[in-house]
Amino acid sequence: MRRSQNLLLVSSNASFLKEIESLIGDLDYSLRLLQSSEEIKCLDITYNTPLAIIESNGNESWLMEVIAAIRSKLKSSAILVTFTHATVLNFTELKASSKMILIQRPFEDETFMSTLLDLAPIEVPLEKLKIEHLYPVRISDLDSEIEFDFDIFIYLNANKKILLYSGKNSKLTAKQVQNFKDHNVQNLYVRRTDKLAFHHFIKSKLNETSNGKFTSDAARREEMKQKIKELFVGFFDSSHFDYDRSQEVLKAGKKVIGKFILETEPMVDIFEQTRAPTRDFANNYDHATNVSIFSTMFAIALSLPDVGAATIGGLLHDIGLSLLPVEFYKLPFDSLTAAQKSIYCTHPMSGAGYLRNKNLAAADIVYSIIQQHHENFDGTGYPLGIKGEEIHILARLCQIADQFDYLLNGNSEGEKLSPKEIFNIMVKANQTKTSIKYDQVLLEKLQRTFESSLFQNMDKNNLDTFIESPDPLAPETAQDRAMRKARGGKPWRFVK
Ligand SMILES: [Fe+2]
Ligand SMILES: [Fe+2]
Repeated sequence: MRRSQNLLLVSSNASFLKEIESLIGDLDYSLRLLQSSEEIKCLDITYNTPLAIIESNGNESWLMEVIAAIRSKLKSSAILVTFTHATVLNFTELKASSKMILIQRPFEDETFMSTLLDLAPIEVPLEKLKIEHLYPVRISDLDSEIEFDFDIFIYLNANKKILLYSGKNSKLTAKQVQNFKDHNVQNLYVRRTDKLAFHHFIKSKLNETSNGKFTSDAARREEMKQKIKELFVGFFDSSHFDYDRSQEVLKAGKKVIGKFILETEPMVDIFEQTRAPTRDFANNYDHATNVSIFSTMFAIALSLPDVGAATIGGLLHDIGLSLLPVEFYKLPFDSLTAAQKSIYCTHPMSGAGYLRNKNLAAADIVYSIIQQHHENFDGTGYPLGIKGEEIHILARLCQIADQFDYLLNGNSEGEKLSPKEIFNIMVKANQTKTSIKYDQVLLEKLQRTFESSLFQNMDKNNLDTFIESPDPLAPETAQDRAMRKARGGKPWRFVK
């Protein structure tokens, strides 16, 4: 890990240097400000940087020239563009370059810093560590017999202090884990630059659990998997597709998912927020939850690992919309102005950035799902224009689930399509349209799986039990609240 790095700043405004200086504080980045593409072209050949940060001034041709100059001069650098609402960004042009991140202004310091450390990692000494340099991890994920090869930190919210809890080559005992739980501590932290080491650790832990020892988290994921699978038996039986029945399956699925989420994540308010923009009380439509259910089911059908991440990612995929004014998501996309469209297209990035700020202890995959759910398989999507396998498989799946829900439930007036018809439409559109939106292999695999026996035999008994049990995603009533208080328990439903 490097102790210092170069950062190239590009802005027509000299005060940009001051702004970035104050954001990075005393971290060891050496900054250099250039003001035009000509200056970039004159850069010394020995100069290198992992990252160029551009402040867009609203002049599109200036921005494009600057990006082209960086691309030709600093081939391996990532580019971060900060832009304001007023700027009309041409996403088609921007997508042409990979390693491009867009951050909308005004941004929070934490969003900027965590992106910066991801793109230009440096070693931050303990005494300089701040919360935005750390990556939250769930305590239950650390509970294992395997040693970590990363430092673990505690964050004391009250006085904003960071303490080193345990160094490399240690492990958390069951007693320590219990102690944290007793004190209602949910998260510990690792350095952002240790994220990879943490993921390796999780991988070896999963290998260990699959040999018979299940942690409670894994057991919970397994339980949800089973229940969702049971629910969707018969859902794809095209010989007698019943729309009302499908709505009941979704209603029951919501309960399974709701229970899983409430038990998994401490931050229940986030889930109400993510549902708000795409929820329609009048029509009983709940896009966020539906996409979560379909992503889960698709991941199960394809036997993918990380089903839990598919569930949470599906639920949160559009959380960025909740940060936009209401007209952006209540009006059809095609009726937005060019400027509004470019703002709308920031929702995958701003959503992920927003959650990072909230320190939601989600896996990185969840962030990938949120960031990449509008990427197209052929690279014509947004915000980054990445393509093929560069897009995380669960993000490709979420994109299919997103459209699947739209076609099945999104249009309450239109004709009711069966899942089989929907798959046919999507497969066909992918083959005939000029842009290949979906991963065709994945799409056809899903289509085949649902036509196979796995989801074919309907068992109605299960469904009825799910529908009768209380809905954990429904707002808490006065009676619920009284009961909960009497139990002394935390909310089992969302508190409005
Ligand atoms: Fe979206
Ligand atoms: Fe969506």
